[in-house]
Amino acid sequence: MLPGRSLRTAFAVAAACTLLPTTAAATTACADPTGRPWCDRAQDADTRARLLTRALTTGEKLTLLGGYRSGDYAGAIAPIPRLGVPVAYVDGSSIGVGQPVSADGRIGGKNRATQMPSPTALAATFDPALARLAGATVGDEARKKGNTGLLGPAADIMRVPYGGRTFESFGEDPHLSGQMAAAWIQGAQAAGVFTSLKHYAVNNQEGRDPTQKLGTEAFPLGFGTQGSRYLYNAVVSERAMREIYLAPFETAIRDGRPGSVMCAYNRVNGPYACASRHLLADVLRRDWGYDGLVMSDWIVGAHPWDVLAHFRNGLDLEMPSPVAYSPALLRPLLQLGVLRTAQLDDHVRRILRATISAGILDDPAGPSDESAIDVEGHDAVSRAVAEAGVVLLRNTGVLPLQAGAAPRIAVLGPAARRSASGGGSGSVRPFRTVPVATALAAHPGAGAVTVETTRDRARAASVARAADVAVVVVRDYETEGADRLCLTLRCPPTYGDQDALIDAVAAAQPNTVVVVQSGGPVLMPWRDRVAAVVQGWYPGQAGGTAIARVLFGDVEPSGRLPITFPVREADLPTAGSALRYPGTAAQTVHYEEGVLVGYRWFDARGIAPAYPFGFGLSYTSFAYADLRVTEDGVTFAVRNTGARRGAAVPQLYVGLPPIGSATVQPPWQLRGAEKVWLDPGEQREITLPLTDRDLSSWDGGWKRATGCVRVAVGASSRDLPLRGTLGACE
Ligand code: BGC
Repeated sequence: MLPGRSLRTAFAVAAACTLLPTTAAATTACADPTGRPWCDRAQDADTRARLLTRALTTGEKLTLLGGYRSGDYAGAIAPIPRLGVPVAYVDGSSIGVGQPVSADGRIGGKNRATQMPSPTALAATFDPALARLAGATVGDEARKKGNTGLLGPAADIMRVPYGGRTFESFGEDPHLSGQMAAAWIQGAQAAGVFTSLKHYAVNNQEGRDPTQKLGTEAFPLGFGTQGSRYLYNAVVSERAMREIYLAPFETAIRDGRPGSVMCAYNRVNGPYACASRHLLADVLRRDWGYDGLVMSDWIVGAHPWDVLAHFRNGLDLEMPSPVAYSPALLRPLLQLGVLRTAQLDDHVRRILRATISAGILDDPAGPSDESAIDVEGHDAVSRAVAEAGVVLLRNTGVLPLQAGAAPRIAVLGPAARRSASGGGSGSVRPFRTVPVATALAAHPGAGAVTVETTRDRARAASVARAADVAVVVVRDYETEGADRLCLTLRCPPTYGDQDALIDAVAAAQPNTVVVVQSGGPVLMPWRDRVAAVVQGWYPGQAGGTAIARVLFGDVEPSGRLPITFPVREADLPTAGSALRYPGTAAQTVHYEEGVLVGYRWFDARGIAPAYPFGFGLSYTSFAYADLRVTEDGVTFAVRNTGARRGAAVPQLYVGLPPIGSATVQPPWQLRGAEKVWLDPGEQREITLPLTDRDLSSWDGGWKRATGCVRVAVGASSRDLPLRGTLGACE
């Protein structure tokens, strides 16, 4: 639930930082605009970038193309000293801005920032307004830490739940992912930085590291060698790309207008993403009309042997330093006419357009000033996202905990005293952390709280037995660079056999609540033997407080799953096929399941998930009625039928008929959703729009259904009580 004083302050902060200051410091490139037409603020960023490009020497242009000394930042765009244009730093992710690296220089050591919940948690809020606020918060911090650009959000679809970066994106559905990414970008860019939408495209796995040597919390960057992100070639149909993998990027670009797009490490149907004519020139630039900056992913996103393809197809900026785009390589190619200077100018213009839009000429970011950050306000935003993203998966009645009864609580599990987050460039050293155990012990409604982090099952069971309620806190660990090797809570082994621990506690204490802190899906073989299951994701720096407040009912659980939670790994579309995942010895990954990704696969195959996409309980109940379907959308009523205020998240799905060559159709595809807060007994009429595109499939182009379209509305992908049709139905 949103209201609260600190949160209102945070909204005010976010609103305030939507306006760039208009007073230019005396030292800016445009302090004296005489003879500098690019300083005319009445012109748009693109025109100003064109004018500035014209004023540059070839040498200056070439240095802009290949990254620059970034110091403590992840990357930098070169300054133009002759014209007073400063260096533009870029860093961060949608989880926060971890730079600069700490003075002690230790690996993973970073200066502090507000740690936001993982984007999977944000997606679970089903609330674009919160995504906008989260973006504004991270954007504001990025700018105050001296950044011109912010390296997020990631809109990669979760194809395999093993993916080491599952936590960094918005789940398995293109509609939801696109909505959240667009809103996040709007918020962040309004705070005065440009964003970089990543990783374009079909970047869905890190690779398996059978040795599991790296990619642990001690060394938070993995190195998966089987199906490595640096090498794999995704063999994927054009239809699956357009409908599933590219769709969130398309929406985010149309509605969010990111200043930059980051192309991915991997290959797609042959060429590397950053050299792909199809992805860059045909889809991004031509079909979507994107004229912003394209930067490579770091160090090995661009390759010297691909320099012609990079340059011609639309890679503007190689990061973080020039290898393929080194002036020594580019200059002779331009002199010989192999590369065109008009294209060089296009690259330069797009780079400058991004930095100018983020104030590089008028009000450049920096230097980093951590003390300017509204630590309390941002903490409140982090907590609000965490609270709204918690998904209540099971509840036999133990929740909410009865504060009046001051229950004795046993908090168990090796992870209970630690906060959970992912590794890699999405890691942040938080300003503060509140683990679940700390928050429960501090909660005014709790009676005696015993915290026991032992792995000894008998000991944990006996502590549980002596309490009124047992809360078992479990977690996984995801990190960039390597995938998870399995989906159980014994994987990775860092926290011991958490599944067995849960079983032992549940056998001793009927009121056992399991709190899962994971980046994505984990298997829950014990789910029917416990009283409640709470999915908290990586909940960010205020996560423990958020979870405790949901357990006690200070906050109504209102999150919904943005990802299917499978019963077993054998149910996944990639199960039993190394071709599909992690790929062949030649690093080729065959996306043979086509468009049947996530719930689309489970629905098409009639496989029951443990918890379906879109699912989440609340402490009240809802009823849906009165569906009306027109060409423009659907209208229906939702009523709170319980005794508490709560949030319904009605979801609109369509079932398309075969369209041309698109004969395999997912039974249901999400096309709209809205989070609605309702008091007991309150009823609201909801309208969700449908566009032509919502009724179309890719068949060499977008083709609208001419046959019978099935339409359904309900509480999850597997709970769709309202049914209707559109079009030619018998
Ligand atoms: C990641 C990007 C990130 C970059 C800079 C790369 O390893 O793939 O997502 O933005 O590092 O931190």
